[in-house]
Amino acid sequence: MKKLTIAIDGPAGSGKSSVARVVAQRLGYLYLDSGAMYRALALKALQNNGLALTSEKELEELARDTQIELQPVPPRLHDPTVHNRVLLDGDDVTQSIRTNEVAQAASRVATIPGVRAILVAAQQHAGANGGVVMEGRDIGTVVFPKAELKVFLEATPEARAERRWKEHIEKGEFLHLAQVEEEVRQRDRRDTERKVSPLVRAADAVLVDNTAMDVEETARLITMLAHERLRELGRTAGAVQ
Ligand code: CDP
Ligand code: CDP
Repeated sequence: MKKLTIAIDGPAGSGKSSVARVVAQRLGYLYLDSGAMYRALALKALQNNGLALTSEKELEELARDTQIELQPVPPRLHDPTVHNRVLLDGDDVTQSIRTNEVAQAASRVATIPGVRAILVAAQQHAGANGGVVMEGRDIGTVVFPKAELKVFLEATPEARAERRWKEHIEKGEFLHLAQVEEEVRQRDRRDTERKVSPLVRAADAVLVDNTAMDVEETARLITMLAHERLRELGRTAGAVQ
């Protein structure tokens, strides 16, 4: 049976990871979190004392010398905020990339064209066989512009910041909601205003605002869209034969 490539893009906290993971499970597809790759590289840059997050050439070299691998989450791991196991040069960094500091650093390294070229090539390779749900910022526009289903996931900045804030609380990190909101806005700005592959809805992406929907409802809607797309493709293939 034909398997789709599904691209889910959207801003921070719009629900991409949680929703994409459920959709992938339902369809029996591979789930890939492209943001985790930018986060892993940012973590390495932060650990590499003295490497300025603005130094384009050094960061590009760092990206070239780095191995980042995304693996399915082991069933024993119940953390709902973890969606892929992430290996950075063979070390498990699944949890350590989930801090605010790393998120901010990731959105800085993600503005560098040479870094993006390396990570985009790795993402294209990882999803090359189809049957994949990949989420990020530029999946429907740059990584898989021919994806058979593209979704742009949205929610109000207030709802997205509150979701992130709750996640921090659950992990025992008591941040102020206003601080999380400011950081989400800063990252939105950097992601939408950067010159290379900015966060933008692909012309053929379905816009889903899930401000008033939970993860389950959103995942059900996207799974329905996927089944619909499979039926359409089946009909087209039938008509051609
Ligand atoms: O990957 P992205 O930053 O787009 O968002 P996420 O990490 O999947 O979701 C952020 C938080 O919002 C998670 O705790 C989700 O459970 C929650 N969420 C929600 O409450 N309702 C939704 N419709 C989507 C996500
Ligand atoms: O989960 P959340 O939406 O907060 O962020 P993420 O998906 O883990 O991505 C972290 C950062 O990586 C984003 O703020 C973007 O700057 C960058 N990113 C990107 O530029 N392109 C992607 N395809 C994925 C992430």
